[in-house]
Amino acid sequence: MKLNIALLAGDGIGPEVIDQAVKVSDAVAQKFGHEITWKPALTGAAAIDAVGEPYPDATHEICKNADAVLFGAIGHPKYDNDPSAPVRPEQGLLKMRKALGLFANVRPTFTFPSLLDKSPLKRERIEGTDLVFLRELTGGIYFGEKGRKDNGDTAYDNCVYTREEVQRLAKKGFELAMTRSKKLCCVDKANVLETSRLWRETVQAMEKDYPEVEVSYEFVDAVAMRLVQWPNSYDVLITENLFGDILTDEASVISGSMGLMPSASMGAEVSLFEPIHGSYPQATGLNIANPMATVLSAAMMFENFGLMEEGKAMRDAVNKALEAGVVTEDLANGGKAYGTKEVGDWLAANV
Ligand code: IPM
Ligand code: MN
Repeated sequence: MKLNIALLAGDGIGPEVIDQAVKVSDAVAQKFGHEITWKPALTGAAAIDAVGEPYPDATHEICKNADAVLFGAIGHPKYDNDPSAPVRPEQGLLKMRKALGLFANVRPTFTFPSLLDKSPLKRERIEGTDLVFLRELTGGIYFGEKGRKDNGDTAYDNCVYTREEVQRLAKKGFELAMTRSKKLCCVDKANVLETSRLWRETVQAMEKDYPEVEVSYEFVDAVAMRLVQWPNSYDVLITENLFGDILTDEASVISGSMGLMPSASMGAEVSLFEPIHGSYPQATGLNIANPMATVLSAAMMFENFGLMEEGKAMRDAVNKALEAGVVTEDLANGGKAYGTKEVGDWLAANV
């Protein structure tokens, strides 16, 4: 297969972890006879510095015309404590999600047998955890009308959802549940919010099309609690943008390191693959960041093209590295820590 991949390394540790994912992807491509053309493009603070905006048109053109996008991270501390900054790297992320129509954010949480004691939760609570959040990514409070009134003393962010937006996300959830253990949890706050009542009513109406899927409806506050009590009781969870943002950070640490969890953002045409850990600015250029989440994101990308064996080769290499202790300092447990690049080299040699 010939693959044309937009490569958005972004900020902080983005470029370092992306380099490793490229190396491992190229190794897999070579092994299975594929040809990848990487198309680098600017995004985030790096793009603001270079051309004055975080998601330039030139980058959008490259992404739109690619078969997929592999994304590093965006965010820079110089913008974090400056609410008056006219442009912020995060605006680029939101603009990109909207412009590419990336409405379904797939964020899995699974455990690695060799890391069960690294989790902040007790082993018996997390054993067997294998869940996936489908977070709606282009609607809700993130994109509703927002502003100030009363001379700036009142602020508002509107949360708006249409039935169609809920349906397309829920459809992905039902379909995903059908390929897994056929359990779907609709996470909402239907006891308070009108948008949540629309979510619930819409998902309820879709149940008849998927008679094999067992659907539960749970309030977001209860899910936040049950996620740390019995994460292994969940399979597929669907939810709106802000709830999904919060719950997926909570879920991401269950595996033992934030540096391990990949994600995908699916649109009608192009899809984007990205580690969920963010730009980790303190580690920039130090060769200490864990590249595994980005490598696993690339694995999700191959699997999304139907290249399941290629994806599995990458996942197996990561598992082997974890078992062999070829890990960065976040997982070294006082033992030997390898560099970002060295872990990448090892994975590329072992796919
Ligand atoms: C994420 C991030 C973003 C979000 C920020 C950086 C805008 O937290 O991808 O979860 O809130 O969606
Ligand atoms: Mn987030």
